[in-house]
Amino acid sequence: MTIGSMLYEGKAKKVFATDKPDQVVQYFKDDATAFNAQKRGTILEKGVINNKISERLFVLLEQAGVPTHFIKRLSDRELLTKKVAIVPVEVVVRNVVAGSLAKRLGLKEGDPIEPAIVEWYYKNDGLGDPLIADEHIRLMQLATPEQMAEIKRLALKVNGVLQPFFRERQMILVDFKLEFGLHNGQLILADEISPDPCRFWDQTTKESMDKDRFRKDLGKIEEAYQEVLKRVCG
Ligand code: TMP
Ligand code: ASP
Repeated sequence: MTIGSMLYEGKAKKVFATDKPDQVVQYFKDDATAFNAQKRGTILEKGVINNKISERLFVLLEQAGVPTHFIKRLSDRELLTKKVAIVPVEVVVRNVVAGSLAKRLGLKEGDPIEPAIVEWYYKNDGLGDPLIADEHIRLMQLATPEQMAEIKRLALKVNGVLQPFFRERQMILVDFKLEFGLHNGQLILADEISPDPCRFWDQTTKESMDKDRFRKDLGKIEEAYQEVLKRVCG
């Protein structure tokens, strides 16, 4: 495997070309941002931890029949994946009220959401990733209605696999953000699944074990990421 030029640099990852035109390498950085990159910092070893957690969860999801971009983990910080054209819609699944949902609608943080809800956000940093409806996705032609129906089905399937997985590890899967991409015309799960785009609460203490510790300056950030790694991969 030869790694080529950098194709893209995001806030937490870089993407590199390989000698195969339909495969890329995701490189996981320690950089952390919040509030549309107004807050910046570093979480020591986050890249290594998120890469390993993503590998474990992508393998789990593939085994459950969810198509993903995962091929294999190449090193501590490098994940070999299928190259996709990302659908510019961030997909958020929520099992418990938290974050922007509590703020926007005045709902009580910690209240259960049953059945889980799925929300769409327009992936556009310049606009601050606004919440959108199906009609906006159609208007802007971000994806077809058929693609959105498939994305919703897959997102709920991911939730159905991950919720019990985390419950068995004494964690509550509060909410998470997914990104999907097109590979040879097929919709597959892309990006990463880690404490960055997910909220996990310890089942007993209800303490955050995710990027909320960085967003809200709760301290013990590295310790929380290490603990998630231990429970997921250990
Ligand atoms: P929210 O409550 O702030 O809308 O976040 C919902 C979930 O999405 C939470 O698990 C964190 C994740 N998320 C991202 O991955 N990227 C983002 O830019 C935002 C705002 C949230
Ligand atoms: N990742 C997003 C950003 O920097 C926000 C977040 O996860 O809170 O901007």
